[in-house]
Amino acid sequence: MANTGKKLTIIGSGAVGTAAAQWAVSRNVADDIVLLDVVEGVPQGKALDLAQCAPLCGFTGRIRGSNDYADTAGSDVIIITAGLARKPGMSRDDLLEKNVQIVRSVTEEAVKNSPNACIVVVTNPIDAMVYTAFKISGFPRERVVGMAGVLDSARYRTFLAWELGVAPSDITALVMGIHGDNMLPLTRLASVNGVPVEDLLSREKLDEIVSRTQNGGAEIVQHLKTGSAFSTPGLAAIEMAESILKDQKRVLPCAAYLQGEFGIDGVFLGVPVVLGKGGVERIVEFRLTEDEKKALETSVQAVKKQVAATGL
Ligand code: LAC
Repeated sequence: MANTGKKLTIIGSGAVGTAAAQWAVSRNVADDIVLLDVVEGVPQGKALDLAQCAPLCGFTGRIRGSNDYADTAGSDVIIITAGLARKPGMSRDDLLEKNVQIVRSVTEEAVKNSPNACIVVVTNPIDAMVYTAFKISGFPRERVVGMAGVLDSARYRTFLAWELGVAPSDITALVMGIHGDNMLPLTRLASVNGVPVEDLLSREKLDEIVSRTQNGGAEIVQHLKTGSAFSTPGLAAIEMAESILKDQKRVLPCAAYLQGEFGIDGVFLGVPVVLGKGGVERIVEFRLTEDEKKALETSVQAVKKQVAATGL
């Protein structure tokens, strides 16, 4: 049965946590998967349903639901999705006050049981919630990372692919900065298998796509009315977890704690990182234009405001 010998815990069995669990099963990312929630019965029922996917999707591990942190003991990766989600008209920042309390208590319980885990934070507003998990866990910066760049870049790549009429997987593109309105889709570096998109699309079209990417989360909230995106956020978290669990050393845009990289210090911000068994094994620094630096600085100021509001 064993393949990875690894254990994954997903905290929160709401829409994102459940989607993450489903992707984890379908991609066989760990031998032992625990879906944890405070609500009794929900994680158990959802995990049981997902366990029964095994004969159809080839999952060889075990997945169970629980309300007890003891069941999460010894996890290699802990994905935190617990918290409130956005409703129409709400910004990610509106969630801060409630979610900081949730992420605080979840982190305390989780790290007691898994002192060597890597934590992947998905709860919004991500850049402040990952800081919360970092502070509360006392873990080194390598083992606390926020999801969002993978999601935002996936949206950007999708919109570019639609416009160009090409396979989305052939688009390489990077979104850096905050997971919010000031995120920075780097058009200069976006390509179709190495061919610059700036040579293929007009400036107007590219600006339109950048703006749609920046509003990608809100666009889905407007449709759903009672919640926010969950499939791609769940998959993005599993893409990160998988790279850590299988030591794949994928280069993925993630919220990492910066200590001077890109000239930024003391905040979590979306940057390209190498994810392997040690968590954030390296931050991939590269030269930015003056305009890009300015745009990133706007992200930094927005994140600092969020972090101040956590009171940590
Ligand atoms: C989004 C939420 C998860 O971007 O922040 O869809």
